[in-house]
Amino acid sequence: MYKKLLWEEKDGIGILKINSPKTLNSLNSELLSELEHWAQSTHFEKLNAVIITGEGKAFVAGADIKEMSELSPSEAKQFGELGVSVFRKLENLKVPVIAAINGYALGGGCELAMACDIRIASEKAKFGQPEVGLGIIPGFSGTQRLSRLIGIARAKELIYTGKVISASKAYEIGLVNYVVDADGLMDEALKLALEISKASKTANKYAKEAINVGIQMDIDSAIAYETSLFAMCFSHEDQEKRMKSFLKKSKK
Ligand code: CAA
Repeated sequence: MYKKLLWEEKDGIGILKINSPKTLNSLNSELLSELEHWAQSTHFEKLNAVIITGEGKAFVAGADIKEMSELSPSEAKQFGELGVSVFRKLENLKVPVIAAINGYALGGGCELAMACDIRIASEKAKFGQPEVGLGIIPGFSGTQRLSRLIGIARAKELIYTGKVISASKAYEIGLVNYVVDADGLMDEALKLALEISKASKTANKYAKEAINVGIQMDIDSAIAYETSLFAMCFSHEDQEKRMKSFLKKSKK
């Protein structure tokens, strides 16, 4: 169905592979449009977790420099808006999303990983926002997500220098949750996805919404938002079934 994406669903877990290895999975308009279609048309409500990874030696080596090299300022605005809107849709999918970062996650690739909920890196992965070296700035929300994730000072250092860092350095500064052997990357991602799958899908959907929406509010509004989602959990059968089953077990 897609030219540059591979999508499979098994046992409630979806795996999306960015599959354009000849150009290190770099993001051109075609690939971004496919991602947008996937984010809009997949039935995520059936899934417990999604894993995103890349084919070959890169996760994603950034936005497509060949395509960008020809853009006028107004075309660049359109290109930036497409990337931003795709990543925002991805960030707000109603299911936990794990980035299994197999290799280069540079520029738009680092920005894609940051739009996911949890990042697991192969020891071979490399991270960076090298845009300033190309005379541009991160254009798919990197200035914003990186600052929020690792703090303004560290984000500024990475962005101003454009330097590329190792997976262990990315772990040290909080850019990834953990680093694993290259061969074990997908197994680790699946293990985490299965762990997430044991929890209530509905509860995880609301937990994600409470965090993503609440983090942008003042603390009192955010807590009130959490309370409203907490209350909504009680209108779902998962809550009743899971609490009853707990009480039944503890009586034995
Ligand atoms: N765009 C377009 N093509 C790319 C690409 C990119 N971002 N990254 C790699 N490629 C292409 C290369 O041009 C090359 O194509 P050919 O075989 O036709 O020559 C192919 O992928 C393989 O790449 P390399 O030969 O360069 O592989 P390498 O192992 O020697 O180097 C690398 C790997 C260090 C990642 C290097 O490819 C590289 O530096 N890539 C660019 C990384 C970058 O600057 N990313 C940021 C882009 S800007 C951005 O993302 C803006 C934004 O925020 C929206």
